Amino acid sequence: MRPVALVTGGNRGIGLGITQRLLADGYAVSILATREEPAELLDELRAHAQDDKAVRYVRGSVADPDDHTRYLDDAVDAWGRLDVLVNNAGVAPLERADLLSATPESFDRVLGINLRGPYFLTQGFANRVIALRGADVDLTARPVATIINMSSISASAVSTNRGEYCVSKAGVAMATQLFAVRLAPEGIVVYEVRPGVVATDMTVGVTAKYDALLAGGLAPIARWGRPADVAGAVALLAAGQTPYSTGEVFHVDGGMHIPTL
Ligand SMILES: NC(=O)c1ccc[n+]([C@@H]2O[C@H](COP(=O)([O-])OP(=O)(O)OC[C@H]3O[C@@H](n4cnc5c(N)ncnc54)[C@H](OP(=O)(O)O)[C@@H]3O)[C@@H](O)[C@H]2O)c1
Repeated sequence: MRPVALVTGGNRGIGLGITQRLLADGYAVSILATREEPAELLDELRAHAQDDKAVRYVRGSVADPDDHTRYLDDAVDAWGRLDVLVNNAGVAPLERADLLSATPESFDRVLGINLRGPYFLTQGFANRVIALRGADVDLTARPVATIINMSSISASAVSTNRGEYCVSKAGVAMATQLFAVRLAPEGIVVYEVRPGVVATDMTVGVTAKYDALLAGGLAPIARWGRPADVAGAVALLAAGQTPYSTGEVFHVDGGMHIPTL
């Protein structure tokens, strides 16, 4: 039976890269996203997986705890197990605004989707895993489930024209530590994947800015990240090869986080 991975925002950008990679690695994948079900894409993914039951799609918002319940119910009803949660879905502010003029509405929107949403989806996922796992399972042998949170270089790098995004990703970093500690005795490991700049819809409006920064030495590996780069890190962490590590941060940023003189 395929292990089951939940990938929020698995229909586009980095999340789609993760969906494709996990399907290729033999997982069944359920996507949560707000857009209408992308029938053609789902057909393609199922055809690649050579399994028409390998992909599910739940339309809903990660910001809404009622949608979490529907999402978790759907996967458990379909497959009867939960192995991996990738908290990938996220948004940038609708408008980049200076710290001195940014609005509480934008703060609440970004924090609701990027932090509050995955925080409580993690809670719901963990409680389901605990309920599903057998009472006699040896929790010291190997993790029974893995949670991977998508943060950002913005968890530590300051951008004063999108403070709410930075705060949300710093919060994701702390949530990773919190759940890593709380869930270790439950046999669940938690990791943070921290991308730099990745070419997706989210960054399409700032292409020229980052082209110039990359040409000027922003990262030792002087190119844009690709969804497949991030997906490779997720696949690695999900594979169960690092069972004595939790709360780790895995950078996927071409070395951008390394301070240089
Ligand atoms: N691109 C980068 O340079 C970069 C760098 C560091 C970190 N990241 C992080 O990586 C993650 C993915 O970013 P991306 O670049 O792939 O962005 P993207 O291309 O804009 O895709 C965002 C994804 O999130 C989903 N989504 C948005 N709001 C949602 C909601 N309320 N509920 C459920 N799904 C929702 C979208 O699906 P729908 O539109 O269907 O809702 C879409 O699949 C985000 O957490 C982002 O912060 C990105």
